[in-house]
Amino acid sequence: MKRMKLSAEATLTRELVYEATGLTSLNLSHLASAVRLEMANGNIQADGKQWIEYNEQQLLQQAIDLAKQWLSSWQNKPGQSFVITSGAVGEKAMQVQEGEQWQPIGAHHFSGFGNGKTTIAEALFYGCGVMTINEVEQAQELCIYPAGKLRSAREWMLMQSETDFSLDKFLFSEQLGKPRVILIDDVGREGSIPFVRSTEQASEIQTRYYDLINYCYRQKLSVIMTSNYRLNELATFLGGATWSRLLEMVPDGFMIDITGVRDYRPIAGGRVTAPMDL
Ligand SMILES: Nc1ncnc2c1ncn2[C@@H]1O[C@H](COP(=O)(O)OP(=O)(O)OP(=O)(O)O)[C@@H](O)[C@H]1O
Ligand SMILES: [Mg+2]
Repeated sequence: MKRMKLSAEATLTRELVYEATGLTSLNLSHLASAVRLEMANGNIQADGKQWIEYNEQQLLQQAIDLAKQWLSSWQNKPGQSFVITSGAVGEKAMQVQEGEQWQPIGAHHFSGFGNGKTTIAEALFYGCGVMTINEVEQAQELCIYPAGKLRSAREWMLMQSETDFSLDKFLFSEQLGKPRVILIDDVGREGSIPFVRSTEQASEIQTRYYDLINYCYRQKLSVIMTSNYRLNELATFLGGATWSRLLEMVPDGFMIDITGVRDYRPIAGGRVTAPMDL
């Protein structure tokens, strides 16, 4: 459950929901609006090298805007799903645009980690929850009861090893009844499944994902997924039958790849002082 204190006179607006779910915790001030990364296949030629150019700020902003759009259409589209990924591009020489000039700012390691995927995914997950406002003394409190289960990809895989495991039993809640949404965090980070031969691991993981996603597909249960794979890698990893279902469940535009948005964790840990000084 998630809770947020409100003032006595507050009414439940969309903005408050975004705040309560954590969506507004993401800021853009550490991101550049025009970035160049040195890439062998880059289409821009400068300083005798090849570069790709993109708007880092806009990449994250777009993901946040799409999350808001997703939340406002979700109620009328049972089973509507969402996928957000970012892959690693490794250590790249970087330039940012200042006025008309491109300034070299050294190399940055783009790990694909820590750029807000789980934050956005959780905001969607809680945004599908059941919200109540309770009076508390001179204030109010917004409580969100999740309308389903949030687990790491590894947990979703491991729970299927239990002998009498059933998704019906696991997902049904006495309090809220039929589930409406699940979150699978970090697809690709399942590790290995116990008691399965190493040569069978990949196909066993695909089978387990198939069972999980096909269940959601048939029950019209929304799936929210994060991964450090690029989208094409994710498709291969999950297998054709699962990916085909996701292509229907996730409306066009709601499969988002934010590769190239930098890791916030070193900034949060005070390792990077001036945001642009990476
Ligand atoms: N743009 C941002 N502004 C403020 N905080 C951020 C931003 N991006 C990420 N964070 C914070 O950094 C931490 C990592 O974010 P999050 O867990 O969403 O990353 P992730 O993309 O899921 O990473 P991983 O790929 O490692 O799972 C969290 O504490 C999150 O609140
Ligand atoms: Mg994450």
